[in-house]
Amino acid sequence: MDLQPVKGTRDFYPEAMRVRNWIADAWRRVSLRSGFEEYDSPILESLDLFEAKSGPEIAEQLFSFTDRGGRRLAIRPETTPALARMVNAKVNSLPRPIKWFSISRLCRAENPQKGRLREFFQWNIDILGEPSPQADAECVLVAVDALRELGLTAAEVKVRYASRALVTAVLGAAAVGQEQIPKVLSVLDKRDRVPAGAFEAMLRQAVSQDAARQMILRFMDTKEPDAAAVSADLGGELSGGAAADVEAAIDDLRQFRSALGSFGIADWCRYDPGVVRGLAYYTGIVYEVFDATQSLRAVAGGGRYDNLLEVLGGPTLPGTGFGMGDVVLGILLEEKGKLPSEKKFPGQRLDFFVIDADGSSAEQVLSVVAALRRGGLAADFSYKRQPLGKQLKEANRRAALRAAICRGATVTVKDLTSGEQVDRPLEDFLAKPLG
Ligand code: HAM
Repeated sequence: MDLQPVKGTRDFYPEAMRVRNWIADAWRRVSLRSGFEEYDSPILESLDLFEAKSGPEIAEQLFSFTDRGGRRLAIRPETTPALARMVNAKVNSLPRPIKWFSISRLCRAENPQKGRLREFFQWNIDILGEPSPQADAECVLVAVDALRELGLTAAEVKVRYASRALVTAVLGAAAVGQEQIPKVLSVLDKRDRVPAGAFEAMLRQAVSQDAARQMILRFMDTKEPDAAAVSADLGGELSGGAAADVEAAIDDLRQFRSALGSFGIADWCRYDPGVVRGLAYYTGIVYEVFDATQSLRAVAGGGRYDNLLEVLGGPTLPGTGFGMGDVVLGILLEEKGKLPSEKKFPGQRLDFFVIDADGSSAEQVLSVVAALRRGGLAADFSYKRQPLGKQLKEANRRAALRAAICRGATVTVKDLTSGEQVDRPLEDFLAKPLG
């Protein structure tokens, strides 16, 4: 019988749980101060919701099963399709723009590796009903705000952005057929993750014409989202339709970049046409957040999806947002030494450790503990009958801020940081424990 945790899942012992909560608290704090409201969706969804909409990568990574009623179900691998379903269902009564966030537990049947597990947590930030590139930039601002809140700097992480619309227009200009485009995008998305030779072989398979392939590779190396540079890199003038699509995508990128500047986060962000994103539903600006040396997988990824609600049977409603996972983020924070020490985790410290000074005040200890807790303070005690010294040791081990040492009608309050102590009458202490 194998009683180990399932491959790619984690047990959260209290130590790991503290880290998880510390990260989730920062995500929630930043979401709320940025005007986003929290939502959640079920862990089980109909398989159809993901199969067609998210693209082959997610479809291959789904945990799915057929229930007793013959329904094909999946454990959610992402929340964006469920968000679209929920918004569609109430679209007329929701004030716009819709700014929502969630912190969801997700499962993907991946091969577990550094930064990729089968079960993880993902923070989602999305704005629906707002087509402007400023909304894309606001989402990036929220991501950066959270990274900063957790102690990371612009020198340590980079948001790499590009435009799915631009690369699609370029593929059109390179005479890649519409039906071939999703396949080519999924190959381009793998460029940074597979060896160069393997990438070239995959691209050759997806795009058979040499000239088109060269054009795509040149575009993937462009440094600036500038129309003249793009068309020069593509080998000259673009035809009318392609030129207009390129110009429109570049104009969006220009506005996006200007908003990043106004938000004061330009130094966190960099244009990188190699960012394509694996999910099928993106239509505009896309981005991924990496550690600066790109030695780890992506910390976050997102972008604009202007067709998803319509594809799921709703109205035309633009959407934009990102997901940030806890796994790579946790590794990065640990590597950079940003995780707080045990004593610094907020909410973990006891206000009082209550002590029986002489072995005869045990009942008093219980009533003091209950009174302190009723008053909203964190208090604990030892079940063991122990000498005072041992109980004080326990108080220190538990990182309590103070000891309340009970002796008859007196309580000695000892500050465990400074060592200072004062004797107080019990009644007086209970009325005002913090003095
Ligand atoms: P995604 O790129 O699939 O996007 O995931 C976003 C982030 O979730 C990744 O950058 C990574 O940190 C984390 N993540 C994904 N898969 C795993 C895994 N197997 N193990 C650990 N972490 C993982 C989406 O999911 C989009 N739905 C995000 C989005 C929201 N787009 C618009 N709104």
